[in-house]
Amino acid sequence: MNVPNQARSSLSILVLHGPNLNLLGLREPGIYGSVTLAEIDQLLQQEASSLSCQVVTLQSNHEGVLVDAIQAARTQHQGILINAGAYTHTSVALRDALAAVALPVVEVHLSNIYQREPFRHHSFIAPVAVGQISGFGVESYRLGLLALVHTLKTGARAN
Ligand code: DQA
Repeated sequence: MNVPNQARSSLSILVLHGPNLNLLGLREPGIYGSVTLAEIDQLLQQEASSLSCQVVTLQSNHEGVLVDAIQAARTQHQGILINAGAYTHTSVALRDALAAVALPVVEVHLSNIYQREPFRHHSFIAPVAVGQISGFGVESYRLGLLALVHTLKTGARAN
């Protein structure tokens, strides 16, 4: 019988994609690759299935929509996987929302933000995240989900 993920596990992860990530596949493929956001979401659903958890994905170009989703996650999900895109480097509001809900957060980036322009080297998200994975393309998402589920299942933290 094909038991849905949700019936097998109560662990639910919110995956948030920030601005311009809806254009993956078309957008600067030399930096971000040719994989589309739909393909990333599909990969995360497959990975979630093998980890016996559920993922709910949302992309928005609007900071307030992302803040609302983070606030709502408090009662609906156990952790947040986030690629905040450019808001990583600018948004105190996203950082404060993540701190407010106090769910474990893993930050991911397709590109290695530290090899790029200096304005990308600072993340407002990193201080409120369990950890950050940057530079592995689509694998950053897969590794990020693994790390988040591992943290939730074991309570493991480096500090
Ligand atoms: C990104 C890196 C950010 O600097 C950039 O603004 C993005 C994508 C990444 O996944 O590599 O939109 O978060």
